[in-house]
Amino acid sequence: MDLTAPFHTRRISGMGRAIRNCLADDDDPGAGFVAAIRARPMSMLSAETLRAIHLLSRSCQDAIVEIGAYVGGATAVILHATQARRNLVVTIEEPVAHPTHPQIPTQDTVSDLHANIRSLGLAREGHHVIPGASFEAWVLGTLHHRLLGQRIGLLVWDADACIDRDLILLAPWLAPGAMVVIDDYVAGEGKSVRVSTVVDDFMRRGILEPSAYLPWGTWFGRLRRPPTAAEIAAYRTEWQHLAASGHVYYQRLTDYERRLPDIPPPLTAEERQSFWASAVAWGQGKGR
Ligand SMILES: C[S@@+](CC[C@H](N)C(=O)[O-])C[C@H]1O[C@@H](n2cnc3c(N)ncnc32)[C@H](O)[C@@H]1O
Repeated sequence: MDLTAPFHTRRISGMGRAIRNCLADDDDPGAGFVAAIRARPMSMLSAETLRAIHLLSRSCQDAIVEIGAYVGGATAVILHATQARRNLVVTIEEPVAHPTHPQIPTQDTVSDLHANIRSLGLAREGHHVIPGASFEAWVLGTLHHRLLGQRIGLLVWDADACIDRDLILLAPWLAPGAMVVIDDYVAGEGKSVRVSTVVDDFMRRGILEPSAYLPWGTWFGRLRRPPTAAEIAAYRTEWQHLAASGHVYYQRLTDYERRLPDIPPPLTAEERQSFWASAVAWGQGKGR
């Protein structure tokens, strides 16, 4: 693979060097499997990104958490890479329909994810799919139970606009130096404006450290330290402002937080579908 365009950090870290070497090696253990996943097609992520996820998964000694799986392309790569070590793997994906997706249509992401993982022979104990949104109280409670005694050594995030929300909510469980993969780090396009703004701010503060940037806009790096209480408070205030200014992703979060005193039940299928329909319309209208 040609690495000149996609791969850049000013000073290459150990993780960055490992990713670069993995991508340059056509006999890499993940190469064949990733090619099969891309050919199905089953993933929205690039071959480079999936191969790097395979590498990080097979070198991870702790639990692996994935947020935003669609029909399980990256999930399959993580499970394939951890066949020997059998790490605890938790996938958080809210079940939604996307029947008009041009390459990978689905009536229910979570059902198709399970079917895909089974058909690839990768279903195993120690892989848990939590069918909800990453900020829901029952999802975080279930994740806490699944993780008991373990920390997250690799977070693969490919969800909505709110990477700050999930890094803050997951901070208590992230191992020091945890490897982090964040898709949509592409300034100037819809929801990724927020992703790149937050990732840049976390890097500037020294919370995140970059290692590589691969097609199609996926950021790879490590957690250097958890956010402080003051940083979390400042972010929570910003969420209120973003919600008040009409940012639908943060409105969804703050609306949900208002339900918390009542111990909210899971969002309904209708709520999920209607949110994603309005988010798409909102993104087409102005995007942030
Ligand atoms: C871009 S797709 C993921 C693609 C996948 N990583 C792959 O390999 O093809 C984003 C997915 O994230 C899910 N999602 C978005 N926000 C979420 C959230 N906060 N919690 C859980 N899932 C979420 C959506 O339902 C969607 O299926």
